Amino acid sequence: MRIGVLTGGGDCPGLNAVIRAVVRKGVSLYGHEFVGFRDGWRGPLEGDTMPLDIQAVRGILPRGGTILGSSRTNPIKIDGGVEKIKDNLAETGVDALIAIGGEDTLGVAKQLFDKGVKVVGVPKTIDNDLSATDYTFGFDTAVNIATEAIDRLHTTAESHHRALICEVMGRHAGWIALHAGMAGGANVILIPEKPFDIDRVCAYVESRFTTRYAPIVVVAEGAHPIEGQMALQAGELDSFGHVRLGGIGELLAKEIEKRTGKEARTTVLGHIQRGGTPTAFDRVLATRFGLHAIDAVHDGHFGVMVALQGTDVVRVALAEATKELKTVPVSRYEEAEVFFG
Ligand code: F6P
Repeated sequence: MRIGVLTGGGDCPGLNAVIRAVVRKGVSLYGHEFVGFRDGWRGPLEGDTMPLDIQAVRGILPRGGTILGSSRTNPIKIDGGVEKIKDNLAETGVDALIAIGGEDTLGVAKQLFDKGVKVVGVPKTIDNDLSATDYTFGFDTAVNIATEAIDRLHTTAESHHRALICEVMGRHAGWIALHAGMAGGANVILIPEKPFDIDRVCAYVESRFTTRYAPIVVVAEGAHPIEGQMALQAGELDSFGHVRLGGIGELLAKEIEKRTGKEARTTVLGHIQRGGTPTAFDRVLATRFGLHAIDAVHDGHFGVMVALQGTDVVRVALAEATKELKTVPVSRYEEAEVFFG
């Protein structure tokens, strides 16, 4: 078989580990051939390919990013996009696709599968918000990076008696904020799933100032106050209709200063959470996903995504994986709330 591989959406530590595992097992065990599509769905849409053999995947296991490049191109939004992809797959002699991505990339994979394209999905996102899998690779790396940042913010916040706000990624789901905030001993954690009360946030901040510690507020970029409490900025939309976020940390700092009279400053971690080398956990998870994805293709089992359930890698329907986002349940947030203030 000739198999196409693509990586779509925001990049994520561990993408290269998946590509390596797919190619290594696919070539050496099954004798398949591979072709890389560049920059997510833009590759098959424009027929932009690159060679993908064992030589091309040597040495990439610990490297962040993706050797294939990525984009947020949405072929469904482009006139005749699906047909162009089908024609280009036929022209390049590609029998099946492995699409490595998050909700958007896999949502497209599902729609292409419904239209007859043979595709297997691999879940990727630092946000950990894909349903049907306990974890996505990249999340552990992002949480470790954010936790290290929070540890560092503690000592400088204490020295200067300041409130420090750490803004992390997570547009609809607060998993990174929850885990990094818990691991880093945050004073309060704010997530998109639960609109926050600015009065309570300020009360937590003030109570922390009565101790020898200084408050650290961990806020997910998609967190927002209870309606009407603070004015928010509107951002641009990408091709999947998502708002480009970033800014809640700054707004919070201003509001905390205004209401408490204490100095408050913000650190936005941004793409630092996505760049660089994956943790050992993410390398192993990404490698196992790659090994199981090529098995699914070899078995002719399409329209599925590989997923971690417990410690097993299983196959779930793409439809199941993409039907809703996995957000932070109330009970998980309540566990963290015990440490607020
Ligand atoms: O989807 C993953 C993610 O990291 C989100 O948490 C974040 O909102 C988004 O990507 C940022 O993407 P971009 O790099 O395109 O601005």
